[in-house]
Amino acid sequence: MLDAKVKELLNEQVNKEFYSAYLYLDFANFYNRRGLDGFYNWFYIQTQEERDHAMLFMKYLQNNSADVELLMIPKPEISLERLEDPLHEAVKHEAYVTSLINNLYDAAQSAKDFRTVQFLDWFVKEQGEEEKNTQDLVTKMELFGSEPRSLYMLDNELKARVYTAPSLVL
Ligand code: FEO
Repeated sequence: MLDAKVKELLNEQVNKEFYSAYLYLDFANFYNRRGLDGFYNWFYIQTQEERDHAMLFMKYLQNNSADVELLMIPKPEISLERLEDPLHEAVKHEAYVTSLINNLYDAAQSAKDFRTVQFLDWFVKEQGEEEKNTQDLVTKMELFGSEPRSLYMLDNELKARVYTAPSLVL
């Protein structure tokens, strides 16, 4: 039996990960409208990864005999104007998700729920990667984004990103 607080936070995390997918789909669409296929591709793949995260949390709840309650996914309402805006927003959003994972980890440890702690270890590492990847994009945009030819090359680089299923299997 999962601790009630841990279970509540895990269930909320299903929703938060689906929101992340929704938010990144909004960012992907922003770039699609501007003809930047590589940036579109990067965020479209990010959307797929966030959906995977949501499904992993759901599967973990199911594996522990807990009911899953699907909550409402809010509309992404971030105003995007400049080409770099989604990148800065993604950095902020990943830091927020890290804080959610840390909060969950803290609750699981307090409840001496070491199975959930172990499950969350993968997400702690994943968040480190997600924060780095989004920050790297901001850095590249700052270096190359203001010149059309280098922006074109950066867009081509991002076009090469391919989706890979998560290494965590439940
Ligand atoms: Fe599921 Fe980007 O954190």
